[in-house]
Amino acid sequence: MFTKVSDSNNKKITIYFEDEPVEVEEGMTVAAAVLEPSHGWTRTTHGGHKRGAFCHMGVCHECLMTIDGVPNQQACLTPVADGMKVYRQNGEPDFHQEEGKHA
Ligand code: FES
Repeated sequence: MFTKVSDSNNKKITIYFEDEPVEVEEGMTVAAAVLEPSHGWTRTTHGGHKRGAFCHMGVCHECLMTIDGVPNQQACLTPVADGMKVYRQNGEPDFHQEEGKHA
């Protein structure tokens, strides 16, 4: 489905997707970094339908995720950072959600 254009020598960092460590290259977007471990879906609609990053350029909003405790973040426009905590966004975002307590 997706293939990296080239190998890079970018530094490896660790992010946490759904509390699991994932080693990624510095400079990637969150959407690209979680594409494989997320099995292509990053959020659900309020009806429970799975959605995944589609445009990868900030237009479709299908990539909304909770990043470092902040819901509704466009994963395709957010660069990874070491230690970042990323969660799928299930249904409508809960703006009162405490970090680490994600449905
Ligand atoms: S993938 Fe379309 S806005 Fe992020």
